[in-house]
Amino acid sequence: MQKPGHLDISRRDLMVGTAAASVALGTLPATAKAQTAKNSESLVASTRVQFTVNGAAHHLELDNRTSLLDALREHLHLTGTKKGCDHGQCGACTVMVDGRRINSCLTLAIMHEGDEITTIEGLGTPEDLHPMQAAFVKHDGFQCGYCTPGQICSSVAVLAEIRAGIPSHVTRDLTAPTEVSDVEIRERMSGNICRCGAYPNIIEAINEVAGRPA
Ligand code: FES
Ligand code: FES
Repeated sequence: MQKPGHLDISRRDLMVGTAAASVALGTLPATAKAQTAKNSESLVASTRVQFTVNGAAHHLELDNRTSLLDALREHLHLTGTKKGCDHGQCGACTVMVDGRRINSCLTLAIMHEGDEITTIEGLGTPEDLHPMQAAFVKHDGFQCGYCTPGQICSSVAVLAEIRAGIPSHVTRDLTAPTEVSDVEIRERMSGNICRCGAYPNIIEAINEVAGRPA
């Protein structure tokens, strides 16, 4: 026995209905068809973008939805920048854009037309380490190393922020020059998570580059 509300549609009825719908679509005005095609196109729209990464100019044609992180890793094969959470919560993807640090998973690549981007690969080389990279090695500022590229990019930016006098949430005197301190470093580095817990060694490394006594 049929249940209430059951649709009694035979395969033949369904085919007849489908054919009728196709005929109806075929009679859509040209403007409606054009609009439908335009809507489909906008779902897969791509944009040409040009930016500089570690001093080299790149021209890319990217799906508008591509994050800067994916553009770096998947399109430019710069895999030093890590994908941790992909949600702006761990800092593993930190790079510098025009000198300011940014979570590259939270920004679309096509928003960076003309920008200068620096990744961990652009800071130093194995033969010629950036002072912050050398300090991380010296102070064991990492264990597994997954968070390390983001930590180092952030550390470099943090020192630049403090030296430029940019205050943080824990800066006590906004009228005095901002000073490097463990409290300032911890606050400013709080967006970079280290599952291995290398925090004390990271702070030692930053202090060394800042010229503070251990
Ligand atoms: Fe970007 Fe975690 S991967 S913040
Ligand atoms: Fe392993 Fe930081 S060194 S997550």
